[in-house]
Amino acid sequence: MNASPDSAPRPRRRFLTEAAAGAVGACCAGVPLASGLVAWLDPLSRSGGAGDWIEVADVASVPTDGTPVRVTVISGRSDAWTREAAVPVGVVYLRRSGPTDIVALHSVCPHAGCFVDYQTDRKAFFCPCHDSTFAVDGSINDPRSPSPRSMDTLGVEVRGQSVWLRFQNFRPGIPAKVALT
Ligand code: FES
Repeated sequence: MNASPDSAPRPRRRFLTEAAAGAVGACCAGVPLASGLVAWLDPLSRSGGAGDWIEVADVASVPTDGTPVRVTVISGRSDAWTREAAVPVGVVYLRRSGPTDIVALHSVCPHAGCFVDYQTDRKAFFCPCHDSTFAVDGSINDPRSPSPRSMDTLGVEVRGQSVWLRFQNFRPGIPAKVALT
C-alpha cells in the first residue's frame, strides 16, 4: 500500500515546509542584492544620460575676438561594457567672454525650439520662426522678442587644450530654465 502525502511523517513534512520557506526568503533577499551589485558594477549606471560631459572643440578654434563659433555636439560612449556609435545630439555656440573664459549657448530657441542662427553682420542671434533676437551674449535684446528667456547657457570646462561641455536640452516656452531629462 502506497503512503499518501498526508500520511508522511510529520517531522519530514515540517522539514520540507521550512526548506521551501527558506528558499523563497533567499530569493527575495537575493534579487535586490543582485540588482545593487549590477548597478555598482555597471559604469553606464554611474555616468547617467542627459548632462554628460562631452569634449566638443579645441580651445584654439574659438575666436579670440568674442565672435561665436557654431559647434556640433557629438555623443558616443565607449567603455569596457559597451561601445556606442558617435551621433550628433545638438548644436551649440561657443564664444570667449574673456581671454581664458569660454561660454556655451544652446542653439535651440527658448520660445518654441527652432534653430537660432548667428548673423555676423548684425553681431546678434536671430530666430527666423517668430523673430526672436538675442545679443551676442545670448540675452534678449529686443523687448518685442517672443522668447520668454535668454538663450540657454551650458556648463563649460576648459581641460588642457580642449573645451568640454555638459550638454542638456531645456523646456521651451516658459520663463524658467528647466532641463529635460
Ligand atoms: S521659435 Fe524662436 S522665435 Fe519662436
